[in-house]
Order: sequence, then C-alpha cells, then structure tokens
Amino acid sequence: MGTFFFILIILPLLAVLPCSYASAQSTLSTGSSLSVEEDSKTFLTSPRNEFSCGFYESGGNAFSFSIWFTATVEKTVVWSANPKSPVNGHGSNVLLNHNGNLALTDVNGTVTWDTGTRSGEGTVVSLLDTGNLIVRDSTGTILWESFSSPTDTLLPLQPLTKGTGLVSSYYSLYFDNDNVLRLMYDGPNISSIYWPNLDNTLFENGRTSYNSSRVAVLDTEGFFLSSDGLNFKASDWGTGVKRRLTIGYDGNLRMYSLNASTGSWIVSWEAIADMCDVHGICGQNGMCEYSPSLRCSCAPGYEMTDPQNWNKGCQPKFNKSCSKTEQFDFIKVPHSDCYGFDLSYNESITFAECERICLDSCSCLAFTYKTGSAYCYTKALLFNCYRSPNFLGDNYIKVPKNRGTSKQSGLTCNPGIPVVVQGSASMYGMGDGNKSYTTYYIFAAILGGLVLLFIGTSWSFLYSKPNIPKSMEAGYRMVMSQFRMFTYRELTEATGKFKEEIGRGASGIVYRGVFDRPVDEHVRGDHPNRAPKYLRPQNLD
Ligand SMILES: *[C@@H]1O[C@H](CO)[C@@H](O)[C@H](O)[C@H]1NC(C)=O
Ligand SMILES: *[C@@H]1O[C@H](CO)[C@@H](O)[C@H](O)[C@H]1NC(C)=O
Ligand SMILES: *[C@@H]1O[C@H](CO)[C@@H](O)[C@H](O)[C@H]1NC(C)=O
Ligand SMILES: *[C@@H]1O[C@H](CO)[C@@H](O)[C@H](O)[C@H]1NC(C)=O
Ligand SMILES: *[C@@H]1O[C@H](CO)[C@@H](O)[C@H](O)[C@H]1NC(C)=O
Ligand SMILES: *[C@@H]1O[C@H](CO)[C@@H](O)[C@H](O)[C@H]1NC(C)=O
Repeated sequence: MGTFFFILIILPLLAVLPCSYASAQSTLSTGSSLSVEEDSKTFLTSPRNEFSCGFYESGGNAFSFSIWFTATVEKTVVWSANPKSPVNGHGSNVLLNHNGNLALTDVNGTVTWDTGTRSGEGTVVSLLDTGNLIVRDSTGTILWESFSSPTDTLLPLQPLTKGTGLVSSYYSLYFDNDNVLRLMYDGPNISSIYWPNLDNTLFENGRTSYNSSRVAVLDTEGFFLSSDGLNFKASDWGTGVKRRLTIGYDGNLRMYSLNASTGSWIVSWEAIADMCDVHGICGQNGMCEYSPSLRCSCAPGYEMTDPQNWNKGCQPKFNKSCSKTEQFDFIKVPHSDCYGFDLSYNESITFAECERICLDSCSCLAFTYKTGSAYCYTKALLFNCYRSPNFLGDNYIKVPKNRGTSKQSGLTCNPGIPVVVQGSASMYGMGDGNKSYTTYYIFAAILGGLVLLFIGTSWSFLYSKPNIPKSMEAGYRMVMSQFRMFTYRELTEATGKFKEEIGRGASGIVYRGVFDRPVDEHVRGDHPNRAPKYLRPQNLD
C-alpha cells in the first residue's frame, strides 16, 4: 500500500522534472528546453562541471547556443551552434523535442540550427567531461556530436578530420587535398595559404603528403599529433592542465593553457611567430609591420578603403589609365616585399631592367628588387606586403606621375587614424556581422516599443472618449491597421509636383503636401497584403 502511494506521487514528478529542471544537469531527455531569457542558467553542465552549455551573448541582444569553460574569468566559448547567425535575446529557445531533434529557434519561429536527429522519445542530450555535446538514441548510440562540427576551437581528444576544420573570420585550419594540414586566408577576392611556410619544401617543414588518413588530435598532456607528420607540444605539457587549440581572428593558431589559480589563459604554443606572415592581415594594398606589435599601414599612394576596418585594405588615391603616354614614379619602401602574386621573376638583371619590365606591363603594381643577388619580382597584386629589417630587398610601388596634388611619401597614408591592430576582435572588423545584428535588434526593439506606446496611447484615448468624431476614429483605425505607404505618384500629386519646399535637413528636403482622398480608403483598399502578420513559433513537437 505504502509503495503504491509512493509510486503514485513519484510518477507525475518524473514526468514534470525534465521540463522544469534544465540546470546543472549533464543529461536531459526529450521535452527539455531553455529559453534565451534564462541566459544566466545553463542548459547542461558536464558531470565534473568543467564545461557548461547554454545561451551566450555574442553582441547586444544577439545570442548563440554555445559551450564554454565553466571556470574561466572571461567566458571562453569553445563551440557554437550558430556562430554566424545569432538569435534574438527575446523569445528564442533551444529544445530537445519529442521527435528527438535538438533545435534552436529564433523569436520569429525560424529554426536557426538543429541536429537533424529523429530518434523519438528516449533520445537524450548530454554534455560530457571532454566538452563534447552529444545526442544519443534510446539504445545509447551517438547520433550527433558537437566534436564533429568544431567552430574555431579544438579541445583535447577532439579529432580534427578530413571533413572538419577550424574557422575564424577569413582564416581556416584544414586538411588540404594533398593531406597536409594548412592555414589559409580565404577572403572574398583572394585565397592564400601561409602555413606551413611556403618557402620550404613539405619535407623541410616536417610534413608529408603520403598519409591520407587526415586526422589530428591534441591529447590530454598537451601533445598535438597530425597524420601529415606535424607534431608539437604545449610549453607546459603534462596532465592536469586544461587546454584548447584556437584559430584567432588574426589568423594565428594558438594553444592556450588555463592557469587554474587565476582563471586566465596563457599561450603555450603558436603557429606563427611573426604576425606579418599571416596572409591578408592588413588587407589588399596594406603593409604589415611587426615590431614589437602588429601595425598596418597603406602602401604609398593608397588610402584605407574603410577607415574602421583593415580587412578591407587600402585603395589607390590615383586613377591609372595605362595609356602609352602615361608616366609613372616608383616610390621605394625599404626592406619590404609582398608575398606571392608575381607577374615575372628574373635573376641577375639590373635595377633599370627590372623597372622597365614593370613599366611595360599595365598590370604591374610594384616590383621587389634585391641588390646583392639582383633578383627582380614584379607584382600583380599588393597583398601580404610587409616590412622587416630581415628582408634584404626593397619594394617599389608604381604610381602615376600625374596624380594630383597630395603628397605621397612615407608609409602612413592616414596619420590621423590609429593603425595599431592587436588583439581585439572589433579592431579587426570581424565583429561586424554580429554588430549589424545588434544594431538591427536594438533598432527593432526601439521601434517596436514606440509603436506599442503609440498604439496603446491611441487606444486608451479612443476608449476614454466615446463621442469622438468619425473622422478621428478613422485615424485611429489607421494607426491600428498599419503604417500607410504612399506611392511616388501619390506624393507627386499631393505636393503639386514637389512645388512647395518647407525645409531641408539631414534626411532630405521637406515639401508641403495635401491629400484629398479620405485616409481610411487608402488604408483598406490599397495594400491588403501589408496587413500585420502575427508570427507564431513553429510547433516542433
Ligand atoms: C526570421 O528571422 C531571420 C533572421 O532575421 C530571417 O532570416 C528569417 O527569414 C525570418 N523568418 C521568418 C519566417 O520570417
Ligand atoms: C597515418 O597517420 C595515422 C594517424 O597519425 C597513423 O596512425 C598511421 O600509422 C599513419 N600511417 C602511416 C602509413 O604512416
Ligand atoms: C598562475 O598565475 C599566477 C599569478 O599570476 C602565477 O604566480 C603562477 O605561476 C601561474 N601558474 C602557472 C602554472 O603558470
Ligand atoms: C573585393 O573586390 C571588390 C571588387 O573589386 C571590392 O569592392 C571589395 O572591397 C573587395 N573586398 C575586399 C575585402 O578586399
Ligand atoms: C578618378 O576618376 C574619377 C572618375 O573618372 C574622378 O571622379 C576622380 O576625381 C579621379 N581621381 C583622381 C585622383 O584623379
Ligand atoms: C625575364 O625573364 C623572362 C622569362 O621569365 C624573359 O622572357 C625576359 O627576357 C627576362 N628579362 C630580362 C630583362 O632578362
């Protein structure tokens, strides 16, 4: 009898628990969800509490479903479901539905991301001590795991394979078609591999292209071993230290070790010692210097394309016609070269001959000349350009003789703009995607608030005055239905072909206009498809 009652009490509790108990658990069953408003809570926590999983705010009101280290001073995200498409900070949620699909839904009902699993009731989602988020069916078979879709970070025991790579902004770490693990800049217009060092052979770099298994892994002692022969270890190698291998916004690949007493990260290995060896870091026509920190500037004769963003590089301040009569100057940039994009290469020729080759080719933008060996390289693109005292050659930038009045000497084309780029993501302009979302959400929120306030005020006004004239009532109904959009023709008519100008402002010229048709008629008649749409979150069950 006692047991029977106990079961009666326990059963309903069991049914309710998974739904309401979505915190500090390492495994959840179907029906479990977390809404973005509960972003202070975690969806899952690994058994030893080293990793947490939940909503991470990547920008103002922009959230991603992510996994992070629980015990670091600054939240360190190791994986994100939706790094490029954050969801709204209101009304979004993540749910393991009764079909067994783990899905992230944005406020408007769009499924931004899901695991694509359909294993029904009995499906569970767990966060393991390794930091791996897994979805298993009722038999325990792993159907999906976050380890197979890394973002910018590789955790110990997480294999990097043929199909997976690490990506951050324009940079990626991946297994190339010849089985070699490489770092590549892959921008909108240019792709360029920069690691391992292209000046050496694969053999000299300690790599091989003959092992086609294409797998690499960082072990728990800080040793990294790749099937192409690459291996390295953390400076603090040994067990008991939390580590990660992350590709940065700046294109460098680094291993970090956690100082457990301070909760902050130290770099325990990095792929590129001189940041100017990272291709594309200063953009097209940009010049990189690294001493002691990274500095970008424009090549002489060029200016920043977007003063906020070095990734967009620099653009010429001159027009080049390439006519037979056009005269050119060459501006010398000492100890400088641009990697790759050679038009021609000659040995043992004089400086004048080298200059001639560049003058004779319209597509030549510059040449590099090494005095001792008399090497001559002409350049079709100014990309991966750098200055370094160690480079025993000079770069000569080709600019039209007749290029206006602006003085074009020296390196810094825009002295007013800070050119030191180090560390921060926003300075590299990579936060842009998120930022625009943020702006969008903030704008939408403010606009939404104003509309609600406006409608609310209108309605309370309407209801508090039952005897208001009919014309006014029509006005309020217009407020409720929608905002009116006028066609250009209507505006032309109303303003008498824009006859009477009232004023000019930042947003344009203001004209006086009169509408003779009753407003209500426009509202009901014209744009039936612009009626407000009420979006409901999709039913995922
Ligand atoms: C929901 O919002 C996202 C992002 O703003 C957009 O891409 C998507 O088309 C929207 N979906 C619907 C159904 O409106
Ligand atoms: C290829 O690489 C894998 C992983 O590192 C290793 O286990 C295997 O022995 C290698 N094969 C050959 C033929 O070297
Ligand atoms: C951790 O940081 C503290 C304080 O900076 C330092 O004294 C200690 O040596 C660091 N530990 C390791 C393992 O680097
Ligand atoms: C790519 O090329 C287009 C057209 O030439 C240019 O407008 C754009 O700024 C370039 N993008 C970058 C990142 O350099
Ligand atoms: C380049 O040409 C454009 C259009 O032909 C002109 O507007 C611009 O002023 C020219 N720039 C220079 C520096 O001559
Ligand atoms: C430079 O090399 C090219 C072949 O790459 C050759 O055709 C040309 O004559 C050489 N120029 C000089 C000045 O030696």
